[in-house]
Amino acid sequence: MQFVSMIDQETIQRIMDAARIEEVIGDFVSLKKRGANHIGCCPFHNEKTPSFYVSPSKGIYKCFGCGEAGDVIGFLKKHEHYTYPEALQYLARKYNIEVHEEELSPEEKQRQSERDGLFHVSEFAQKYFADLLWNNEMGRAVGLSYFRQRGLSDEIIKKFGLGYCLDEWSAFTDNALKQGYSDTVLEKTGLTIFKEEGGKKYDRFRGRVMFPIYSISGRVLGFSGRVLSSEKQAAKYVNSPDSDIYNKSRILYGLYQARTAISKADKCYLVEGNVDVISMHQSGVENTVASCGTSLTTEQIRLIKRYTPNVTVLYDGDSAGIKAALRAVDLLFAEGMHVRLVLFPDGEDPDSYAQKYGSSQLQDYLAQHEDNFILFKTRVLLDGVKDDPIRKAELVSETARSIALVSDMLERAEYIRQCSHLLHVSEDALGNAVAKATSQVRQKAYEEARKSEQGERRDEKGRSEDTGSVADNPPVAVAASPLAPPSEVERHLTQLLLNYGNHTVSQDFVDEAGKPQSAEFTVAQIIVSELRQDGLAMQHPLCQRIFEQCALMVDMAHEVDTSRFMNSSDEQLRVFAISLMMDTYSLSDSWRTKGVYVPKIEDNLMQDLTESLYTFKSERIAQMIEERREQLRTASEDRQRELLAEMQQYTALGRQMQQARNIVIAPHYSSY
Ligand code: CTP
Ligand code: MN
Repeated sequence: MQFVSMIDQETIQRIMDAARIEEVIGDFVSLKKRGANHIGCCPFHNEKTPSFYVSPSKGIYKCFGCGEAGDVIGFLKKHEHYTYPEALQYLARKYNIEVHEEELSPEEKQRQSERDGLFHVSEFAQKYFADLLWNNEMGRAVGLSYFRQRGLSDEIIKKFGLGYCLDEWSAFTDNALKQGYSDTVLEKTGLTIFKEEGGKKYDRFRGRVMFPIYSISGRVLGFSGRVLSSEKQAAKYVNSPDSDIYNKSRILYGLYQARTAISKADKCYLVEGNVDVISMHQSGVENTVASCGTSLTTEQIRLIKRYTPNVTVLYDGDSAGIKAALRAVDLLFAEGMHVRLVLFPDGEDPDSYAQKYGSSQLQDYLAQHEDNFILFKTRVLLDGVKDDPIRKAELVSETARSIALVSDMLERAEYIRQCSHLLHVSEDALGNAVAKATSQVRQKAYEEARKSEQGERRDEKGRSEDTGSVADNPPVAVAASPLAPPSEVERHLTQLLLNYGNHTVSQDFVDEAGKPQSAEFTVAQIIVSELRQDGLAMQHPLCQRIFEQCALMVDMAHEVDTSRFMNSSDEQLRVFAISLMMDTYSLSDSWRTKGVYVPKIEDNLMQDLTESLYTFKSERIAQMIEERREQLRTASEDRQRELLAEMQQYTALGRQMQQARNIVIAPHYSSY
């Protein structure tokens, strides 16, 4: 895959203009035309009757079975696991659009070609090491027999591209130089170590079996090499140093081979070692990755999150394993992942367990020992508390901090229930501690989001790390809990904003001098100003967010740009917005196929808008009055007076609205 660091805005526009969503998706899913839509069986979940809709005119897809939705880029990200630049690149190739990189400065071009050099030499090295393993006498005798003796099949050895580096000072380096690779790329990838004195060169990985480390799209980025003999003084594993293409904190070993299985299983197993990954894979548990040679990082978690929110951490049952697991899990929670844990018997890792007992036993073990992590943690820590009241109090707040990181409200309640039992404190007490911790977490997430927002603005030009750009991940750790659907009218108003926001309607109004006037407005302008005028907000958080963003666009005199929502990195918001955009569409479409005439909204846009606004406002006003009526019972005398006055105001507003029904008084429109 061609490596792009920047594509200019104009080219992006040309690519997006050329891309027809039904053609792009049609390459992966068999689609049939049905009315204005194309439909097929959803590629994201198993189904026999098609509920996957593609709308060519809107450029979006949506599955009414599993809820997946997005635009053409979103589809390629989700289905092909491309990053944004990779998806653009793919489309550019499909539609024969030349991608200009003329905006690259000379230094950037230089860096680009250097990176290309690093990629090339890494790929060369992988082929070279694998060739030795299979075809060289020493390679076979030492390397291949080592892997076989560890129980790996030939097939799996090939699948993971394993190899061998001869136990000579510079066999690899000499060969690479002969092939024309430069000292620079050999040094930068760390494949060759250059000694200062005497200018000696030698192979970093000499005498080791080689585990190539791949990017998500299957390019070789670096290596991990293991010694063969256990007596040797040398480190068991040696890894490539960080370079322009290899950044260990952003790479997961095995992700390239595991990604499809992770999506399918909607779950990722996280293990400690390279061999564990391969062994699990061979045992039929292909959705497994390892953080190779580092403790888990946030970037690595975000890589996993591209495929699934569910992670099961597999760790050795020794105390070092438990410690590492505890650390990893807090990080995972902080990223809003759903975390479970499997602890192996002391001294075993997934690989040794699989080799000892076989695949089906391993799979059974995983299924039976999956544990809820917070309970595990609480249990482990409780062991150390004994009867010390101070440490017990610490443990309660520590547990509360962990629970506060759980994003799902129901899940959180369940943890509070179970942990309060374990800790012998009341649910209320633990609940309060969690609430306190939650607000601290929010505060922190908010600050981090602001920080990373500023950071992103600085390098907006687009990193396109093949190793997994994290730029498109939501920075806020605390995800919202599942939401109730919006009310009928809020849903409809939001649909009007999204689908007809830029349509113009002419509206009659009375100006400040009391003269009747008529003017053209967009639907979005009208909705925004009407809701603001009465200080009314939508009740549903996602409707309100869409409204606020549209209001911002209106304020800036922009059109409503729905791609903002279609590409939102907030999954919940994106799916919600797209569902709304898609729903009216398929609804009126299905009516039409049943031969029922439904007047198109466009025909009556102004009337629809007026009715909807009226309904929304009267419903909200009724709610406001009701809320105050309830507060009256418990309010102080002073507050009661206030409440009554407010209720009167709202009642008056309601009456006024009823009288005005079709005439909207909107002098402030003149500012548009
Ligand atoms: N590791 C490393 N450097 C070391 C030791 C370990 O980078 N000196 C990393 C490797 O990626 C290794 C992982 O940590 O796969 C786990 O290490 P360990 O548990 O010691 O090894 P195993 O994976 O069990 O390796 P093996 O089964 O090959 O002995
Ligand atoms: Mn092992």
